[in-house]
Amino acid sequence: MELFDVYPLYNVTPVKAEGVYVWDENDTKYLDFYGGHGVISIGHSHPDYVKSLSGQLTKIGFYSNSIVNPLQQELAYKLGKLSGCENYNLFLCNSGAEANENALKMASFDTGKSRIISFNNAFHGRTSAAVVVTDNPSINAPINLQQKVTFLPLNDIELVIHEIGKGDVAAVIIEGIQGVGGLDEGTKEFFQQLQEICNKNSVLLILDEVQSGYGRSGKFFAFQYHNIQPDMITTAKGMGNGFPIGGVLIADKIKAKYGMLGTTFGGNHLACAAGISVLDVMEKEHLMQNVQEVYGYFLQEIATVPKIKKVKGKGLMLGVEFDFEVGELRKKLIFDKHIFTGGANNKNLLRILPPLSAKKEHVDIFINALKEILG
Ligand SMILES: Cc1ncc(COP(=O)(O)O)c(C=O)c1O
Repeated sequence: MELFDVYPLYNVTPVKAEGVYVWDENDTKYLDFYGGHGVISIGHSHPDYVKSLSGQLTKIGFYSNSIVNPLQQELAYKLGKLSGCENYNLFLCNSGAEANENALKMASFDTGKSRIISFNNAFHGRTSAAVVVTDNPSINAPINLQQKVTFLPLNDIELVIHEIGKGDVAAVIIEGIQGVGGLDEGTKEFFQQLQEICNKNSVLLILDEVQSGYGRSGKFFAFQYHNIQPDMITTAKGMGNGFPIGGVLIADKIKAKYGMLGTTFGGNHLACAAGISVLDVMEKEHLMQNVQEVYGYFLQEIATVPKIKKVKGKGLMLGVEFDFEVGELRKKLIFDKHIFTGGANNKNLLRILPPLSAKKEHVDIFINALKEILG
């Protein structure tokens, strides 16, 4: 059997990883400034994480959601505490798309409505409702198009008010900071107005923090820069440091009913052990503070690199924009300098998503490599 060929691949085969580095089968060492799509939060193969997951595996790896699993409660408690979102309830699932799918479904259950407002260039995943609210017709199949979505430009509150005024909107979904699209984001004022207008009209506000959450922006969730309290917050990527886990944080006013949501694998023992370990390490190693410090240093150093048009994003969720397409630059970074970076819908933008444990010395390696390539 061959693999279903949907991924264009770089010809690199990582076989081992530690901290911010990965090694290929020839023992070539790469600096990981992409974290496998922003997934690696506490660093590759963190010793506490390895100990916690392997220890859990020797006890119990999985049982279904029809029994008591205290690890789920521990995860919810620690997540509430570290994120400052103690007033929410947690539904556990397995991925970012699934988190958004469940949040959108909950919004529709709760409001009895079905139209969703999303934003230009948004990415929310590839499943049924999540892909509909993703602004990319080429990944929507005819079967997806039965659901109702309206895409609006970021930061135009009048258009949001106009659409919500039609009375059929269940939810507004927005990324804390756009990831795949290219690091654009709503202004503080826009987020605050969104919350206000949603509250006034009983429309639910869903913050997709799948990529921008878990400390990546320097705060636990990127929306926390704007002093708002969304109705639902979705999370995945950094939550498990590579172990598949996702979650929806659901405001207390939205009531649960048996059977409303469900999953076989979501919240299993191994996933919870991974999730708990991530939170413990984030707290113990002050990773959010580290992100803020390294971000400040990154901004200072990137200003010394030629040919850069703009730096977007926050914390260690960054986009470096040029006035040329970065495909060749990314290749040179990987194959000549042994540094992983990412791309975006915006072809002129290099996406930087290192582990949250990256240090200034790693920024130096990246900056020097960029300077050497760009001349
Ligand atoms: C903001 C955002 N939401 C949702 C998703 C989908 O997550 P997953 O690939 O885990 O389904 C992604 C993935 O890149 C994302 O960046």
